[in-house]
Parts: sequence; structure tokens; C-alpha cells
Amino acid sequence: MDHFNYVDGAMQVEQVSMAEIAAQVGTPVYIYSTATLSRHVGVFRDGLSQLADPLIAFAVKANPNAAVLATLAKLGLGADVVSAGELLRALAAGIPANRIVFSGVGKTADEMRIALEKGIYQFNLESEPEAEMLSQVALSMGRKAPVAYRINPDVDAGTHAKISTGKSENKFGIPYDRALASYAAARDLPGLDVQGVAVHIGSQLTDLKPLEAAFVKVGALIASLREAGHDIRTADLGGGLGVPYDPSQPLPPSPAEYGAMVTRVTQGWDVRLMFEPGRLIVGNAGVLLSQVVRVKQGAQAPFVIVDAAMNDLLRPSLYDAWHDIRAVHPKGDRAAANVVGPVCETGDTFAMHRDMDVVAAGDLVAFMTAGAYGATMASTYNSRALTPEVLVSGDRWAVVRARPPIEALIEGDSIPAWVAEGATE
Ligand code: LLP
Repeated sequence: MDHFNYVDGAMQVEQVSMAEIAAQVGTPVYIYSTATLSRHVGVFRDGLSQLADPLIAFAVKANPNAAVLATLAKLGLGADVVSAGELLRALAAGIPANRIVFSGVGKTADEMRIALEKGIYQFNLESEPEAEMLSQVALSMGRKAPVAYRINPDVDAGTHAKISTGKSENKFGIPYDRALASYAAARDLPGLDVQGVAVHIGSQLTDLKPLEAAFVKVGALIASLREAGHDIRTADLGGGLGVPYDPSQPLPPSPAEYGAMVTRVTQGWDVRLMFEPGRLIVGNAGVLLSQVVRVKQGAQAPFVIVDAAMNDLLRPSLYDAWHDIRAVHPKGDRAAANVVGPVCETGDTFAMHRDMDVVAAGDLVAFMTAGAYGATMASTYNSRALTPEVLVSGDRWAVVRARPPIEALIEGDSIPAWVAEGATE
């Protein structure tokens, strides 16, 4: 559920007119709804209500905008971060260090140092060399790093290959079969305090079975680790729960169903459970608002050329992802169209042969469910400025990231003196 609704034939976000935002900020623009953010936090938390004190660490990569993070901080969420940049952004937005978990296969010594200085809750280690490096860094600072190993359970998440992470051929985590040996080695590293187990098998999961299979393996591992004398106090079950994108598809499992499964499977684990939802919290809380530049005749369907492109919303070209496309002022008629951006790549296509509201040049269209992995994956390809972002709350709204001027792109580069003087060899 979201808070983008039609009132008197025009799409509004909460109580704010989309057309008004477009008029004042220009297009393309990302628009986020505080009410939807808050609702999704509530729904996820309710799903986990049977668990004692779970840590819900928002996956910052899904939407790192400061205003979004600050809203989630006020709602009590922690953060799952994968870089020093995300860590510093989460802290700056008011997420306390003791609710932050650091994931990722390539943490550098510098990033480890920063995270140790800030006092984060847990490092999720993804390899033995990483464990050794963290131990050394921690020792050099006179600290012990609280760690979990992320295990790779070799489970097929049944999602798009580019967002599957829990198969043995993927780069993530340590192999399940080697976990006991890896934990034994970690225990001997004096800079580490081994406290937990972590797993994350992929994103946009629409079936609970692979998640359950992975969690069952985590439960068995916790038992074996305890038998081997490890003091396991946390289990991080990752993120990954899918959200509805295409209204014609069956709904993904609800947070309530997910929570019931987790409650059942983790019974008796006697650990603090941690979760890293990203998409579920922010996906439906955001749209990308764009304007139709022109409509061009195509061989089969017309091409609706909009002013947003693959550099603003990469998901359709990278994962063939489906985003619902709605007119802000629908006229009542529908027809098949190809919706494309202005970038010079065939992949700059949002939809082919899509049955959608008929639109004309100048009309506004909204790409729905763009709050997760939207603005955060944008680039300046084709020298297009990064898309601005707006946060709405009730009848209030604010630009929470301004559209940078093209001059900023130009001034960002510098021309060495020898080039300026004419040398080309
Ligand atoms: N935890 C870890 C360790 C992750 O790698 C991810 C996502 C999450 C949590 C959050 O997963 P979520 O709850 O959002 O599914 N750009 C892709 C998605 C990449 C997900 C990467 N990792 C997309 O647009 O679909």
C-alpha cells in the first residue's frame, strides 16, 4: 500500500499535488511519501512482534537520502551499511552506531577503522582474509571487533540472477560446509569477538521457501557452533522480501507471513535476531515523476519519449525490471506504448508494448515503486544531471536533494596545463 492516490482525476502524494512539485522542481524528480515509509516500518515491525527486541537495520543502499534515513532513524530503525560512505551517512542522519551492521565482501582497512572508531554493533564478515585483517586493525586500536560470519547457504533464491546472492557460485559469504572451520579460526584471532551468524540470499524474493531453507541452515549452524563452544548471541537474517511491482502478478508474501515463518523457524535459537530490509521499507514509498517530451510513431506501438532515462532509473535496463507507469492526469483511454528515455542506448527502455494510460507531449507520468534502488543507482551518463529528490509529509513537501546545475558536472573535471597549452601527444 502507498500514499500516491488520484483525487479529482489527478495523482497526489499524500495531500500534495504531483503537478505542483513538477512545476516547482522540474522533472524528472523522485518523490517520497513519509506516510508510506512510516507505514512500511510499522507493518514490518508488526510482522516481527512475536520476537524479543529484534534489530531492524535498514539496508541503506536501497535509499541513502539523508531525509529518508533521518525519518527511519526517528522511527527507530538501525542501518545495514556496505561502505564507509553509507556508514557516515547513516550516522549523520541520526542512526546510532549501536544499531549499525557493516556488510560487504570488500571492506578496506580504512573502512574497518572508521567503523571501529564509531563503535558499530556488528561486522558481517565474508571471508577468512577479511577476518584476519579486521582482527589486526582492531588490535592496532586496542579494540575487539564484534563479528558474525555471513554464511553462503547454497540456496537458490528464485529471483533475478543479478540480485541472487546465496548460491555457492556467488561471491558472498563463506561456504556453509567450511563454516565450522572458519569460526574456529576466527576464535583464535585476538581482535575479534565472535558473536553471531548472518545470511542474506538475495533481493525481491517472492517465495518464502528459499528464505526458510536458508534460515533452517542458520539454526543448525548455531547449534553446531554452540557445541563447539562458540558463544553465539546474534543471528542476522538479512533482507530480501519482495514488494509488488506489477499489479497483474500475485502479491509477494506479506511481512506478517514472513514474520510468522521467522518466528516458527527461529524458536529456541536464543539469540537477538537482526533484519536488513531495504526494498520493503522504501520501494513503494517513492515514485519517479517524469514528463513526456514527445510521442513518436513506432513500427508497432508508439514510442513515448519521457525526460527520465536509464541513468535516473536503471532497474528496467539492468534487470528487465517492471515498473508500473501511470499518467498523473489520466484521460480514461488506454493503449499499448513503448516508453523510452532520451539516452542513446537501446537499453534505455522502460517498457515495451505496455498497455497504459494514453499520454501526449507535456503530460506527466509516474514510475511507481521507485523508492528503492532508484535515485541511489543514478548516474550522470550522457551528461545528465542527477535527479532531484522530494520528501512529502501530509500537506508539506521539501526538496531533499536539489538538482545540481550542469555547470557542476563541467567544473568537476579539470584540464591539465599541458592540454590547455595545446599538447595532444
Ligand atoms: N542485506 C544485504 C547484505 C544486501 O546485500 C541487501 C541487498 C539487503 C540486505 C537488502 O535487500 P532488500 O531487502 O532490499 O531486498 N539493485 C537491485 C537490488 C540489489 C540488492 C543488493 N543487496 C534492484 O534494484 O533490484
